[in-house]
Amino acid sequence: MLPCQRHLFDIPYDVAYLNCAYMSPLMKPVIEAGNTALARKAHPWELTPEKFFTGSDEFRATAAQVVGGTAEDIAIIPSASYGIATAARNLPIGKGQRILVLEEQFPSNYYAWQRRAEETGAALKVVAWPEGHDWTAAVLNALTDEVAIAALPHVHWTSGGKLDLVRIGEACRRIGAALALDLTQSLGALPFNVREVQPDFAIAANYKWLLGPYSVGLMYVAPKWQGGRPLEENWIQRANARDFSSLILYTEGYDAGARRFDMGERSNFALLPPAVRAMKQLLEWDVARISETVGGLNRQLAAGAEEVGFSAPAEPWRAPHYLALRRREAIPRELPEMLAREKVFVSVRGSSIRVTPHVYNTIEDGERLIACLRRIAV
Ligand SMILES: Cc1ncc(COP(=O)(O)O)c(C=O)c1O
Repeated sequence: MLPCQRHLFDIPYDVAYLNCAYMSPLMKPVIEAGNTALARKAHPWELTPEKFFTGSDEFRATAAQVVGGTAEDIAIIPSASYGIATAARNLPIGKGQRILVLEEQFPSNYYAWQRRAEETGAALKVVAWPEGHDWTAAVLNALTDEVAIAALPHVHWTSGGKLDLVRIGEACRRIGAALALDLTQSLGALPFNVREVQPDFAIAANYKWLLGPYSVGLMYVAPKWQGGRPLEENWIQRANARDFSSLILYTEGYDAGARRFDMGERSNFALLPPAVRAMKQLLEWDVARISETVGGLNRQLAAGAEEVGFSAPAEPWRAPHYLALRRREAIPRELPEMLAREKVFVSVRGSSIRVTPHVYNTIEDGERLIACLRRIAV
């Protein structure tokens, strides 16, 4: 287990921030990297043409270490929805076929598929919330021959349910279905590797479990799709982009690997360095150790919550870093505000209280939440 890393964050002692699934706090060294990066544009003459490429390639190389694969397989995106729209545009689907999604799946990983189904005469196939919380079994059961695309997360965002993506990946390959993943609620906190899962696309926004800034994301694109069609056509994706003097010699060719899928202005001088700094810290801590450490905090929290009438899916059905507490009676909508007055921060999503600590949290943070629930969740 990792020792508590709160000293690296600017979190006052009386704040119990248990809401990483909403937005992670930035680490002090990440803020420093961000301040330095933003200030570089005070001297634009120092932002020479090669800097449009070096920072992006460092992001790609670091993201590849987090997700598996190589730097060539990584595209730079502004949001999960951008990546999912790219996957939806490129994965083939025909009339009568199905796109598999989960009940209560995050909207960014739903609307794009709904639109794609409408446009092609396909339809969504929605996996119902399973009684015993076993999302993997429910997905495997639903992966029948008419499914052309499985558009899934690693962790279900309202239940904390964990999907066994290795088994799901195998099942997809058996029936010839593509696998597109939204890893926004798991990458950085739950071990994952594209070599084991073999997805077609895997996407994550950096501002949650990757501990990075908002409006940066990464997209893994399997080599077989790297000849596909990007959402936008911009100058820097093209084969001649490195030679600024010949940009108007328009070319049909794209830059190598997944770079063709990069968003416009992907060089993002202000935000890529802090995103990279945060991912490097995660790699140093090691994602498996983060998962164990945060899982330990959540196990204690789940035991305390049970004493005050809440339950959560048990492991291994739920991801260690992600606790969704429910009880028979409804949860007051104003609960997050009531807790916030006590400087305890969680979210309510669907019918669950979502409790998502990280390595900056202490046992006392969890105890404060339980004490508040005992007092106010009546
Ligand atoms: C599962 C999941 N995917 C994606 C996102 C963010 O989506 P976007 O980057 O499109 O805003 C969230 C945000 O809460 C999320 O929970």
